[in-house]
Amino acid sequence: MIDPLRLASRIEAEPTERLHLGSGSVALPGWINIDNQPYPGVDRVVDVTQGLPFRDARFIFAEHFIEHIRYEDARVLLAECRRVLRDGGVLRLSTPNLDWVWASHYRTVLTPDLEVLACFAMNRAFRGWGHQFLWNLATLSAALHDAGFKRVVRCEYGQSEHAELRGLEQHETNEDYEGHSHILIVEAS
Ligand SMILES: C[S@@+](CC[C@H](N)C(=O)[O-])C[C@H]1O[C@@H](n2cnc3c(N)ncnc32)[C@H](O)[C@@H]1O
Repeated sequence: MIDPLRLASRIEAEPTERLHLGSGSVALPGWINIDNQPYPGVDRVVDVTQGLPFRDARFIFAEHFIEHIRYEDARVLLAECRRVLRDGGVLRLSTPNLDWVWASHYRTVLTPDLEVLACFAMNRAFRGWGHQFLWNLATLSAALHDAGFKRVVRCEYGQSEHAELRGLEQHETNEDYEGHSHILIVEAS
């Protein structure tokens, strides 16, 4: 079914180089900083689950954002990112790693006190800070492929084969735990 709002946003789409989704108060210079709240530094107030009124982007970046929207909305948004990116464009996502959360927060055999702590820590990871859905690499990669991306590459914090995507992450990161990195960062093209 055609969504008239999304169709209208495509008609008015503006060409752009770099989009920063769910920017919050982190305004990246040289990027169009987008959020659904008018924080200082936000260039466009847009609910990105309703479509992206842009086209021909080279890069799209989102840090600690995708976990704040529902899984179904995220799948639609990933396809929308693919549509907005020109061929060869890159989407970089940085999000808490469910594998790290699980490994670092939870044990089935603990002392009773620690079992209570683990229970609260796990629920906070899923529901705290407005989180809607936590991702692991397999699930995020599958969703990106479903959205039409052909190549999904895991990246280190702050690092990229693309100069424009280096040094963008700003959130603090915790130590790896049992081989799992705290933050899951991927680039899809
Ligand atoms: C945890 S904050 C991250 C902000 C910033 N990226 C950072 O790393 O500090 C998540 C941001 O996503 C924004 N957000 C949530 N749902 C959104 C939506 N549907 N469309 C646009 N922005 C949204 C929130 O307003 C918030 O600023």
